[in-house]
Amino acid sequence: MKIIKKVKTMQKLSDSRRCEGRVIGLVPTMGALHDGHVSLIKKCKAESDVTIVSIFINRLQFGVNEDFSNYPKRFDADKKVALSAGVDYIFAPSEDELYSDVFSSFVDVKGVTDNLCGASRPGHFKGVTTVVAKLFNIIKPHKAYFGEKDYQQLVTIKKMVADLNFDVKIIGGKIVRERDGLAMSSRNVYLKSDERKRAPIIYKSLKESRELFFNGENSSFKIIKNAVNMIESQGFKIDYVKIVDLITLRDVKEIGSPALMAVAAKIGGTRLIDNIILKRKD
Ligand code: PAJ
Repeated sequence: MKIIKKVKTMQKLSDSRRCEGRVIGLVPTMGALHDGHVSLIKKCKAESDVTIVSIFINRLQFGVNEDFSNYPKRFDADKKVALSAGVDYIFAPSEDELYSDVFSSFVDVKGVTDNLCGASRPGHFKGVTTVVAKLFNIIKPHKAYFGEKDYQQLVTIKKMVADLNFDVKIIGGKIVRERDGLAMSSRNVYLKSDERKRAPIIYKSLKESRELFFNGENSSFKIIKNAVNMIESQGFKIDYVKIVDLITLRDVKEIGSPALMAVAAKIGGTRLIDNIILKRKD
């Protein structure tokens, strides 16, 4: 496994792999790698000849009062995780390497970023799409892998790729969870021990919502109300609990077809997100 820090080196390497006819797969990350990341890496490895993981904590996607400066940095541990998962290259540029003092170009996907995290984190997705567009131009992957944990991010990247004709296939990966159901996240390390014990309520509320839906409840209002009560009972402050269309990510009142139920909630200083697809059993 090689570590690459320079844009030019990465571009040349990708060019030569492409010339050899190799399929390049990319898993973009901000590091502090966990089994959610590893599942994307394994999927990428199974479907590509060259597996590249990028590790870059992207200042542009953090709001002013968010956790950019505290975001976990675990480069030595990440190298070990990546090596044992079979990664070929880690692309880990410095901030100066990606953003010069005169950087002034942005990618801003409208519509699908209006609701959910886009509404509560203004500018967040503009930061995500800008860095991912840069990574696509630097690493030139044929395929790129994103987790369904950040469902809105996945939809937004797919929209960017379609609208701007990026020649890369976007592939989603299932949410990987801890044994008690908490969705894995680099941010889970922020949770104090009592908060960690309460955190599985989020997935529990989503599973109960799915049961209500399976049992014939179609009203988003009623399902959401039940989930909000469950999550608040454990001391969480709700950012949003919503049921939205899978493609447009707009709120739906009556759940007719498959829909996405998404939660963002804060406990102490930690904001957690999770989601579930509501789809009738055939
Ligand atoms: P990061 O939070 O490090 O996540 C990297 C990738 O791992 C994302 O596609 C995310 O959806 C996926 N992921 C995280 N937790 C997961 C889980 N429990 N199960 C499955 N997949 C999971 O998302 C980002 O970084 C950044 O926004 C990035 C795309 C790298 C742009 O800076």
